[in-house]
Amino acid sequence: MHSKSIRNTLLLVLSTLLVVISTNLGSATPVGFRSRTAIKQSKWTETGQLSNPRMYQAASLSPDGKVLVSGGIGDDVCSTGELYDPTTKNWTKTFDMTDCRWFHTSTTLKNGKVLIAGGYAGTPAPLNNVEGLMSQCELYEASTGFWIPTNQMNVQRCFHTATLLRNGNVLVVGGSDDQPNTAEVYDPKMESWTQTTNLQYERKWHAAAALKNGNVLVTGGHDLPFNTIDNAELYDSSTGTWKAVASMKYKRYLHTLTLLTNGKVLAVGGIDDNDDVLNTTELFDPSTETWTITGAMVRGRFGHAASLLNNGKVLVSGGQDDTGASSNNAELYDPATGKWTSTNSMHYKRQSHTATVLANGDVMVIGGNDVDHGAQVTPEIYSLSTDD
Ligand SMILES: *[C@@H]1O[C@H](CO)[C@@H](O)[C@H](O)[C@H]1NC(C)=O
Ligand SMILES: *[C@@H]1O[C@H](CO)[C@@H](O)[C@H](O)[C@H]1NC(C)=O
Repeated sequence: MHSKSIRNTLLLVLSTLLVVISTNLGSATPVGFRSRTAIKQSKWTETGQLSNPRMYQAASLSPDGKVLVSGGIGDDVCSTGELYDPTTKNWTKTFDMTDCRWFHTSTTLKNGKVLIAGGYAGTPAPLNNVEGLMSQCELYEASTGFWIPTNQMNVQRCFHTATLLRNGNVLVVGGSDDQPNTAEVYDPKMESWTQTTNLQYERKWHAAAALKNGNVLVTGGHDLPFNTIDNAELYDSSTGTWKAVASMKYKRYLHTLTLLTNGKVLAVGGIDDNDDVLNTTELFDPSTETWTITGAMVRGRFGHAASLLNNGKVLVSGGQDDTGASSNNAELYDPATGKWTSTNSMHYKRQSHTATVLANGDVMVIGGNDVDHGAQVTPEIYSLSTDD
C-alpha cells in the first residue's frame, strides 16, 4: 500500500497548489445571493479541447479573464501554454515557455503577469528524461503573450506551494528535497527572491491558503524522509516569521485548503499516515487558531481540487478514491450546515487536475490523470445553479 501511495503521490499533487491559487482569486469576488425562484440543475459543460492531453500542469486566471494553462505531462506539452477565452469559449496556444516543467506553480501577480515557479524538469520526452527539481522561474505577460525569464529561486522546489501575499509578493513554501523547511518570497518589482525565516516543520505535498488578514496558513504534507504530518503553522506577512498553531485533527497530504467567506479555512480529504484515503474535513478558525471537525464527504478522496463558489459553498471535484480509481465525482460543502452533498459528476475522471474559478464564478477543470486512461484533453466548466 505504501509504495503504491508513493507512486500515486508522484502522479498527483499540483492540484493542491492550484486550488489554493484559484481559491484566492475566487475569494476576491463578492458573494452572490441565492435565488429561490428557479430550480435548475448544476451542470458540467465540456468546453473545447486542449491541443494535447495534459496532466500535472498549472493554471491561473489572468486579469483579462482568460485561463492560462502551462506545462505538465502529456503529449509534448511540458513547455507549452494554452489560453482559454471565456467570451469566445475558445482555446489558443501561447508561445512556448523557456523550460519544460510539471508540478510547478502558477500565480497571477497584481501587475498582471503570471509567475511560473519551479517544478520538475524534463526535456521533450519528459517521463523518460527527468532532470529533477527546478529553481528556474519565468513570467507570462498577458498583454504581449511573451514569456520572460526572471530570477531563479534560491532553492529547487517541486510539490511546493505559492501564495499571493497582500503586498503583491509571492510566498513559496517547502517542496525541496534537501531544505524542505525553507520558504522564500518573490518581489515582482525587483524580480528578486529572498529567503524568509524557516518553517517550523519540513513540508512537501502540503497545502497553503491566505487568510483574510493576509497571513498564510500551511498544513500537513510530508516531512523527510516520508512521514505524513498534521502540523499547521502561520506565516505572518508583516514580520516574515512562522508560528506553529494547533495541529489538524488528521494527518493529511494531497489534501486541499480553501478560505471560506466567513474567514475560516476548510481542510479536505487527502491521505493519512496509514495510507487511508480520508473523507474527513475540518475547519481552522483564525480567531482561536484551532481546528474543528466538520462534515464528512460522501466519498474520501485525495489529489482532488477544491474551489470556493460565489454562493459561499465549496466544490470538490475528482481525485482518487479508496478503490484506487480516479473519480469524476463532485460534492458541495455548505458552511451554513457543515454538510457535504453530492452534485453532478464531471464527464471525465481526473485527479491532480486544476480547477480555476472564472470571473463569472464558474469553475473550469482542466487536464488531470485518469489512472486507467492517462492524461485528459477535455476541459469542463461547472456552472452554479440557482438551487445550489
Ligand atoms: C478559435 O481559435 C482558432 C485558433 O486556435 C481560430 O482559428 C478561431 O478563429 C477561433 N475561434 C473563435 C470563435 O475565436
Ligand atoms: C468515512 O470513512 C470512514 C473510514 O473509511 C467510514 O467508516 C465512514 O463511514 C465514512 N463516513 C462517511 C460519512 O461516509
